[in-house]
Amino acid sequence: MKTRITELFGIRHPIIQGGMHYVGFAELAAAVSNAGGLGIITGLTQKTPELLAREIARCHEMTDQPFGVNLTFLPTFASPPYPEYIAAIIEGGIKSVETAGRSPEAYMPALKAAGIKVIHKCTSVRHALKAERIGCDAVSVDGFECGGHPGEDDVPNMILLPRAAEELKIPFVASGGMADGRSLVAALALGAEGMNMGTRFIATKEAPVHDNVKQAIVKASELDTRLIMRSLRNTERVINNAGVERLMQIEREKGDALKIEDIMEQVAGIYPKVMTEGDMDAGAWSCGMVAGLIHDVPSCAELIDRIMAQAHELISRRLTGLLQ
Ligand SMILES: Cc1cc2nc3c(=O)[nH]c(=O)nc-3n(C[C@H](O)[C@H](O)[C@H](O)COP(=O)(O)O)c2cc1C
Repeated sequence: MKTRITELFGIRHPIIQGGMHYVGFAELAAAVSNAGGLGIITGLTQKTPELLAREIARCHEMTDQPFGVNLTFLPTFASPPYPEYIAAIIEGGIKSVETAGRSPEAYMPALKAAGIKVIHKCTSVRHALKAERIGCDAVSVDGFECGGHPGEDDVPNMILLPRAAEELKIPFVASGGMADGRSLVAALALGAEGMNMGTRFIATKEAPVHDNVKQAIVKASELDTRLIMRSLRNTERVINNAGVERLMQIEREKGDALKIEDIMEQVAGIYPKVMTEGDMDAGAWSCGMVAGLIHDVPSCAELIDRIMAQAHELISRRLTGLLQ
């Protein structure tokens, strides 16, 4: 399948693995890229730019295919040293960067001067248009369904994607709720030129996370995620667990007076506990509603091959068949 996205990133299939904290290590990025998609290392999971440089080098040892790095611009006071992270990305020979969070505008000149293709992940048409204006090569349009931060507008992909198609000139991928060949064909029909998946890629053989995490996703239904931190305007979709129940109880008690300090125990330092140690009730970790469509733990190659075969079958038989 050839789209502007496969052309832009030099990949065989229009499938991207979104950056994921404590999941997007070299093992997963390399497996996705070897399977013909675009694997992505999560930049800030590496605590220093030097560690990111090492992770990039490790990934180069595992694949000769293109892979990217995610740079999430956090709404924090203690800002990570982004210019140094970008230097590590450039020196590591990376040609694709997925940005997310705040606008990447300040860093676009450095990224573009190094010939890097930038795909910005955003949750609204206005942010997608801003990304286009500041020179991003593509956007990843993250609908309300998504795991992680869906923004505050709550527009699902069935509306958001065709709205993006109406306004954007640069290509975009559909993100949030994508799991299989049906998702890909639907995304293409709505105007996207590929898809980005987060949660689906956690439940793969190569994802370097504790097996408890993969099993929790397989077990979860589409009803098992919750939205937290709404009153802080930092909404996150997470899987429900004992820590999240406690967090939501605090949210109910504090109402609009909630401060981030009130829920630190449930949101700070949780990822290593969950992803590495498999402590499933430690607190809040991102997960999409798409968990309801995830029933197994295939290899990345099995998953991507299956998606492409199903998409091919859907387009060439089922949809074409409807016309006869
Ligand atoms: C466990 C987890 C961690 C994530 N961490 C990040 C992150 O650090 N930066 C980022 O830009 N997106 C992050 N995301 C969002 C994904 O890149 C992707 O946009 C999202 O998962 C898409 O929705 P889906 O889960 O329905 O596929 C994370 C998602 C999950 C599930």
